[in-house]
Amino acid sequence: MKTESQVVVRPARSVRGTVRLPGDKSISHRYAMLAGIAEGPSCLENFSTGADCASTLGCMRALGVNWEGRDGGENVIEVEGRGPTLYAPDRLLDCGNSGSTMRMLSGIVAGQKFASELIGDESLSRRPMERVIRPLTAMGAQIDSREGKPPLRIQGASLRAIDYEMPVASAQVKSCLLFAGLLAEGVTRIEEPLRTRDHGELALRAFGAHLERSGNTVRIRGGQRLRGIETRIPGDISSAAFFLCAAALFPDSELTIPGLLMNPTRARLLDILAQMGLRIAVTQLDEVHGELVGSLRVEGSGLHGTTIAGADSAALIDEIPVLAAIAAYTDRGMEVRDARELRVKESDRIAAVANNLRRMGAQVEEREDGLKIPGGQTLRGAELDSFGDHRIAMAFAVAALRAEGETLIRGPESAAISYPAFFETLVQVAER
Ligand code: S3P
Repeated sequence: MKTESQVVVRPARSVRGTVRLPGDKSISHRYAMLAGIAEGPSCLENFSTGADCASTLGCMRALGVNWEGRDGGENVIEVEGRGPTLYAPDRLLDCGNSGSTMRMLSGIVAGQKFASELIGDESLSRRPMERVIRPLTAMGAQIDSREGKPPLRIQGASLRAIDYEMPVASAQVKSCLLFAGLLAEGVTRIEEPLRTRDHGELALRAFGAHLERSGNTVRIRGGQRLRGIETRIPGDISSAAFFLCAAALFPDSELTIPGLLMNPTRARLLDILAQMGLRIAVTQLDEVHGELVGSLRVEGSGLHGTTIAGADSAALIDEIPVLAAIAAYTDRGMEVRDARELRVKESDRIAAVANNLRRMGAQVEEREDGLKIPGGQTLRGAELDSFGDHRIAMAFAVAALRAEGETLIRGPESAAISYPAFFETLVQVAER
């Protein structure tokens, strides 16, 4: 019988210190995939330590890409690029819990001469894949699925470029189609309903491809060759979100985060936290392969409520769980709208946040596309569930810091999907 693990989080007085974060998960996935289909070696320093990016590396190995990890306190991955033609895998491509791996890799294997089968864990097997199946089928791949859900059996083909208007704002789908477009004949044009994170575009450019963007449309010509790169991946801003929200809970907090990703399509979090009262200073701004990187220094102050809606909900989709988890402590509370996508993440994150907040004694209104959480509430320590979702485990470890009494979180090991060292680091910076 599997015994479930649990962690106890005690209240804190402030959050202080320096946090160095492992490389951004979104960038790590893309660099690992592109390094595999590039020519020549790549060296990726500060690669994400999360299990999701390990799933991507595992799949690339199954596709014939050799890579090695060097760990001298930093996660360095050296990849031998195979070029655009990969090897037929002799096993299933196991994407684990990672929607990014399954969706983006689909675009690469769709352009190969062989068939592959992509599988995932229980949570990933429930997630919608028709958003990649439809356009990749239009490009010429043959894909079998379980009614639009994994596993995906993809028979690759010589792909044809498409002109595609994406019905859902999804950076994973955009990257999938850019990768497929790179392997296709002709110019692929992708239009997104909202501007989503642009790591796919920047990564392709970093590896030497040429892309054109105008407004919300991006074009890529097929047949371009990629060259390996040596680089250092900036710290993950979605992991930083947990520490920034933790710092925002206490007026005495002082936190420094060097080498953090500041890509404008990801940094909306900083504007929202500034509106909520966190004092934020950015220093040493730099650009690495098109990605902005900076050092952040933050200080706590009051904690104000806010509304997250429209394009902000898409831009903050990974950070809404932790913002909502601290919402009850704000003065005016928080309203989240237009965030229906949260229901099809690693868990139904709207339901998971509402459930845990209620266990802590909070009043919450759960809506189809979001949440309304009144401010000025006192939460009490309780027994909570991670629902097997890394961001829910970490979000409620943060909420627990300002609760009355201890909080027990079941299934905290799911944090390792994006950030294995999270709980250790939290203990180091939470002053009791
Ligand atoms: C990601 C895009 C987002 C995000 C996910 C990572 C990416 O998903 O939630 O954690 O790296 O492109 P969607 O593309 O489904 O919006």
